[in-house]
This record gives sequence, C-alpha cells and structure tokens, in this order.
Amino acid sequence: PELRISASSIRLRKAGVPVVCLTAYTYPVARLLDDHVDLLLVGDSVAMVLHGHETTLGASLEMMIAHGQAVMRGSARACVVVDMPAGSYEATPRQAVASARRIVNETGCQAVKLEGGVTVARQIAAIVAAGIPVMGHIGLQPQSVASDGGYRIKGRTQENVAALYRDAEAVEKAGAFSVVIEGTVETVAADLTRQISIPTIGIGASGDCDGQILVIDDMVGLTVDRVPKFVKQYADLRSVISQAAASYAAEVRSRTFPGPNHVFSAAADKNKA
Ligand code: KIV
Ligand code: NA
Repeated sequence: PELRISASSIRLRKAGVPVVCLTAYTYPVARLLDDHVDLLLVGDSVAMVLHGHETTLGASLEMMIAHGQAVMRGSARACVVVDMPAGSYEATPRQAVASARRIVNETGCQAVKLEGGVTVARQIAAIVAAGIPVMGHIGLQPQSVASDGGYRIKGRTQENVAALYRDAEAVEKAGAFSVVIEGTVETVAADLTRQISIPTIGIGASGDCDGQILVIDDMVGLTVDRVPKFVKQYADLRSVISQAAASYAAEVRSRTFPGPNHVFSAAADKNKA
C-alpha cells in the first residue's frame, strides 16, 4: 500500500508551510529527492534538460510516460505529477482525457499538469471529471514560447495582468488542485496567490506563493546551457563530473586505472565482483 502525498492533501496547503517541489526525470534522482520534497514534477522540460531538444515541444507522450515510470519506481512518498506534452491535450477535452488516462494508467502517478488558463479550462474540467487531479500552469508557458515570440515575463502590461487573473480564475474554477505560476512579475504573482483558493507554486514568481519549484538540473548546476535568472544554483555538479572525467582520462592514459582492486585474480575467494 502506497503512502504517498496525494493531490488533495497538496490542495489543502493554502497559505501554510510552503509546498516544496522539484522536477525529477530519472530513478536515481527521484530516489535522492523523495525524502526532501512534497511533490516531484516529471516536467516536459525533460525534452530540453535530458534529451537536448531546443524547446519543450520535443516532448512526446511516450517520453513523458517513460520518465514518469522511472520517477515512480524511484519514489515512495512524494506526490508525483507528470506534464502533459504539447499536442496531447489542446485539441479537445476528449483528447485531453485520453492522454491523461494513458499517463496515469501507465505510470501510476498522482496527477497531471498542463499549460494554459482560459483556453484549456474545458480540458482541465474534463480530466478532473474523469477522476484525475490536475495541476495548472499559467504565466510564462514554455510550450507557447515560439508562438509568443520568446521567453517573456508576464504581468508587465495591463492586458497581460488582466489575462493572468482570468487564467488563474479559470484554472481554479475548472477544478485544478494547484497551479504553477511561472515567469511573472513578483507583485502580480503575490496578488494572484491571495486571489485564488488553490495553492500557487512559483517559479520566477514570488516568495509569497504557496510553494516553489525549480528544475533539478538547474539547481544542482548540471545544466550546460544558460539558466534563467530565477534559478538559484545550490551545487556545481558540472565541475564535479568534469573533474571526475578528467581524472579518469588521465589514469587510463597513464595505466593507473584499473588498479589491483578493480581486476580479478585467479583465486576463487578473491573472485567476487
Ligand atoms: O517542465 C517543467 O519543468 C515545468 C516546471 C518548471 C514548472 O513545467
Ligand atoms: Na513543463
């Protein structure tokens, strides 16, 4: 019997102890993060972070399901949310429900996430009606960056602010259990948090949000490409890996590795791997 944090228990965490969220894409990282976070998001950022695609549009349902399965195998406690990739939900509520069902049935995750507000409210309501919890995602929406003319912070113009309030309200009314607010002016994100009854999870948003999320590779310093300003780097794993590779290369070239402890002698008792 699983004792995971449920989407409905995340829903109750409005204005309380902040909800700690990180992305995870793999079994070992899920194992490491599970003790520390409330929620693991298998973000479609996996397409960029692990697969080297230019944008998140490189994610497919199959890709999300494979990583969702790995993260489920590696975690026991966290609420696991899997992103719905671009093209899997926008067309109709029916398409959205079919894709959400596939993700949940094939991974066993607690919930799905999709991007958009007013334009996907019917999809959110339909997935929720099918019994699958949904996390919303408003503000900067990476799946729309191409059609939006680049990565633009939201809430800097009047129209933009009005649209954010409409989107936040639409997501809440459609029955989402929480909503990610990304790349949004701080005061606007803080006020949106006060205006809606479901927990807001900020990324490049506000410290007043009900929780925070970061991309794991960004926060541990693994991301090779430029990282956004809102990322705080808590470790520098790029240099750790680079130094390990340099040491290994030098030892192979100098025949220092493998040493006596890394090879097998003919004696049977010393033959254990
Ligand atoms: O795909 C992702 O990593 C995300 C989070 C950054 C919210 O959607
Ligand atoms: Na995402």
